[in-house]
Amino acid sequence: MNKTFLLACEGFVKEQLQNDPTGHDWHHINRVRNLALRIAAEEKAESLGLIEAAALLHDIPDEKLNDSEEAGYRKLRDWLNQQGIDKETVLRLEEVIRAVPFKGGNNTAQLSFESKIVQDADRLDAIGAIGIARTFAYGGKKGHPLYNTDLPVRESMTLQEYRSGNSSTIHHFYEKLLKLKDLLHTDAARRLAEERHQFMENFLQVFYKEWNV
Ligand code: NI
Repeated sequence: MNKTFLLACEGFVKEQLQNDPTGHDWHHINRVRNLALRIAAEEKAESLGLIEAAALLHDIPDEKLNDSEEAGYRKLRDWLNQQGIDKETVLRLEEVIRAVPFKGGNNTAQLSFESKIVQDADRLDAIGAIGIARTFAYGGKKGHPLYNTDLPVRESMTLQEYRSGNSSTIHHFYEKLLKLKDLLHTDAARRLAEERHQFMENFLQVFYKEWNV
């Protein structure tokens, strides 16, 4: 994975996600890349180029940001096929990227060492102060209320229910964000998650205190 290709990935992602208002903008991508490289260094990973490229491209095929998951992967593959990289690398990249999304706990894709690292990096950016900001941005875009005390917290849900079921942004903390620290794969990510997780717990306590004023 040479520097030219990685720069091309950056350019493509910037062009595709520049104006995304749902927390999947270029800055999210750049943080995930930086976190993935940090975890990779601590975990002594060797395929740094593959990890960096997968981190940069991980949200390109996301079904939330495309008409469908298939359309997203078609866009990714069409672009990769124009970059002059070999077929095997295209397949490996796609394999790493497929394992990244949470999908309400419904992602059954095979996890390679590289995908564990990119998935951990993406999940770290979904928690903590940044995670809170991104969650409210996404909830707003989806038309979710900040909080709805009438709705139950869903313990398990299908992908369909997860994407379009009745929920509030505060519910999303219980349905995804607070679960993430126990779903991480690497020690490096687990360590980075501690402070972020605690911050969300504190945030929720203060939120309820102010809600019930
Ligand atoms: Ni992401």
